[in-house]
Amino acid sequence: MLYSDPMTVAVIGTGFVGVVSAAAFASFGNTVIGLDIDEKKVADLQLGIVPFHEPGLPELLRSSLDTGNLTFTTDYKKAISNAEVIIIAVGTPSKADGSADLTYVHASAEALAKYLLPGAVVVVKSTVPPGTLHSVDEIIKKHTDVAYELASVPEFLKEGTAVSDTMNPDRVVIGVSSPSTAEVLKKLHEPFKAEMVVVSPESAQMAKYAANSYLATRITFANQIANICEHTGAQIGEVLSAIGLDQRIGSHYWYPGLGYGGSCFPKDVRELKHFAEQVGEVPNLFSAINELNENRIPNILKNLDEVVDGLNGKKVAVLGLSFKPNTDDMREAPCLAIIPKLIEKGAMVKGYDPAALPVARKIMTEGNGLSLVDTFDEALEDADVIMLLVEWPEFINFDYSAKKLSKKQWIFDARNQLEPQTVRAWGFEYIGIGQK
Ligand SMILES: NC(=O)c1ccc[n+]([C@@H]2O[C@H](COP(=O)([O-])OP(=O)(O)OC[C@H]3O[C@@H](n4cnc5c(N)ncnc54)[C@H](O)[C@@H]3O)[C@@H](O)[C@H]2O)c1
Repeated sequence: MLYSDPMTVAVIGTGFVGVVSAAAFASFGNTVIGLDIDEKKVADLQLGIVPFHEPGLPELLRSSLDTGNLTFTTDYKKAISNAEVIIIAVGTPSKADGSADLTYVHASAEALAKYLLPGAVVVVKSTVPPGTLHSVDEIIKKHTDVAYELASVPEFLKEGTAVSDTMNPDRVVIGVSSPSTAEVLKKLHEPFKAEMVVVSPESAQMAKYAANSYLATRITFANQIANICEHTGAQIGEVLSAIGLDQRIGSHYWYPGLGYGGSCFPKDVRELKHFAEQVGEVPNLFSAINELNENRIPNILKNLDEVVDGLNGKKVAVLGLSFKPNTDDMREAPCLAIIPKLIEKGAMVKGYDPAALPVARKIMTEGNGLSLVDTFDEALEDADVIMLLVEWPEFINFDYSAKKLSKKQWIFDARNQLEPQTVRAWGFEYIGIGQK
């Protein structure tokens, strides 16, 4: 098949990854159809409405829709029949045993197969374990006789900066078995002007798990050192700045706090742990990282209960419901582990977030000690304990002295964003991470 320039592309799964990819490829002049089984999502996207909070994405989406290069559908026939490149970007949550749930990847492979153009390239962008292309290939071959190519091009974007990460990637990893497929995918990714690493599909898939697990390891490492600091008089911030000057270590990406959350790190570490066990790598680092991360919040809350003279009856402002700033994604957000424990201990919780309230109201039940409030002010009203869970700028740049009442109050700075001396000067008790 002769590939057109620009190309005709289908993106299956228009979640966080799929929409950004579809809009980005369309912005370079490719004809792109985004496909999802969620009719409401497709209808919204076609109108230029992004169904989640991602800075810059509404603008990119609208400009790509305006060119006429981008459309959305729920119809596999329409999306696949003319597509030279088909990108599968559906979700791959982890199952209870930690393995990757490939149900959606397999379902989309089955649904696309009968409409495949001869020579089309099917790209798995979803995060999947090495070997997944074999099962995808088997499924597709059951439904078509046409010759096609398979590839793995994992996604490395970060929610909150997804548009700039996609438009200016650190690298594009192209996992292929044939040089001709590599050429097609290099051409498609050329406008990103990024370094392209062409490897086997298995290496591409492992690179994705390895990258996320390495970052999760840095977070967990910082948290363990922080725990030890709390018993020694050392300060985690000072320790990290000292070790960061070692060029082998670097001062980037140290996040002492509540552990890692979100839609990727927890599941990817669990999936790598499971995969490592399957191939006989026991014990393995990922198992320890996963366990430490799962115990992180319960351990912190145990200490917090003591430090604030018992949470029972306390009014607690929980600031930050998303898993990190600049997103409304609440998948594995710290508040989901923290709020039930606060309530269990008898606290009365007011939760607030600048972007995630609509999501929170869908997945959390108010009453029984929890209310989700519309303003930052309401959350802070009469609070005994202010818990700064997510470093949204409006939380960390706020002068809390205006909220000081004539009672003992604590600020729990779970991201070490405030100056302890300033907080104490305001009249609050300061609780941080990795410092006495
Ligand atoms: N979210 C991130 O920050 C991120 C970053 C890098 C990689 N990834 C990986 O990318 C993949 C997608 O993640 P996401 O966060 O975009 O997921 P998501 O849950 O936001 O979106 C997945 C979409 O796929 C759709 N879908 C499910 N089954 C389908 C089918 N059979 N046909 C068509 N559409 C279908 C769903 O309706 C949903 O809209 C995952 O493997 C994830 O691990 C995610």
